[in-house]
Amino acid sequence: MIEQDISLKPYNTFGLNSVARYFSKANSIESVREILQSSIAQQSRLLVLGGGSNLLLTQDYDGLVLKNDIPGKKIIEQTEKSVVVEVGGGENWHEFVLWTLENGLGGLENLSLIPGNVGASPMQNIGAYGVEIKDRFVELNAYHIPSGEVHTFSKDDCEFGYRESVFKRKLKGEYMICSVKYALSLDHEFNISYGAIEQELEAMNVSELSIQAVSNAVINIRRSKLPDPKEIGNSGSFFKNPVVPTSLANKLKDRHPNMPSYPAGENRTKLAAGWLIEQAGWKGYRKGDYGVHAKQALVLVNYGDATGQQIYNLSQEILDSVKEKFDVELEREVNIIR
Ligand code: EPU
Repeated sequence: MIEQDISLKPYNTFGLNSVARYFSKANSIESVREILQSSIAQQSRLLVLGGGSNLLLTQDYDGLVLKNDIPGKKIIEQTEKSVVVEVGGGENWHEFVLWTLENGLGGLENLSLIPGNVGASPMQNIGAYGVEIKDRFVELNAYHIPSGEVHTFSKDDCEFGYRESVFKRKLKGEYMICSVKYALSLDHEFNISYGAIEQELEAMNVSELSIQAVSNAVINIRRSKLPDPKEIGNSGSFFKNPVVPTSLANKLKDRHPNMPSYPAGENRTKLAAGWLIEQAGWKGYRKGDYGVHAKQALVLVNYGDATGQQIYNLSQEILDSVKEKFDVELEREVNIIR
């Protein structure tokens, strides 16, 4: 069924009140096909929506919004040490992570509490606290919108990078991700080298490491820094951490010895966008109903009735001021929808 003039407010974590001319939900590949082959779909531009946690709607959407609601979580292969699971693109990411923990499956615990749905996880190779989904990815099935065929993508086919994949680059807008397979462990190796996790585990008095304990530590850290979209509209990190020539990073370090930086390949250094934005004076900035989160400057927020265009304009002001102060070009991580 295709509905008309539907507010997208419940479907985007920024809580923006854009109206979709047409709106539909699909809970199977067959229903995706049926909707996309309808005459409305043939005549409209298309926006495929997952959990709505990585987009900024700058105005009403004069086209068809198709929400991916494809469900399913199952173990499809098991050996002594590892398990392959298959999960529907419409499943909520964090609920999926909790399900892996309940089943004793390790590998995704560092990615607890990331907003959004499973279908978007490979799209932008979601990551946090030293882990990215590409570390556990096996393959995915995706609906090819122009042909109506379902194609399988291996890890190489996905061309994963930092918050990047082929689906954000050369295949942008061509596929809807229906299901993803992840390889998880029964014999856990923990990844707690990311500073804050060890400290949090200590503060929690954890004596024996477990995937559950690491997940709880990550949840505590995220809750302490990142706003809950149910309370304050936001889309997580609005910008990517910029990778710059090491010569520029060294010049900045001379001026700002405390600036965080991380090696990122030959002659490349990754900087912390949150630090740059904070130094440019934006942390905690608020005008009307929009602003920059007070505890994490990478996160732009909607306190109620902000518009997407206001938030977009703020992001441009931030880009300009970081460029002027540090000669660093930030890049938006969030998809801008016009
Ligand atoms: N920092 C500041 N001020 C700020 C924010 C950060 O000085 O307002 C400094 C911190 O003190 C730290 C450094 O910047 O030295 C890095 O900060 P943090 O560890 O909080 O991580 P991040 O680089 O800001 C990235 C991801 C997050 C992810 C965390 C943890 C990106 C764009 N963001 O943030 O991902 O949760 O690391 O792994 O890579 C997301 O993508 O939506 C997201 C929240």
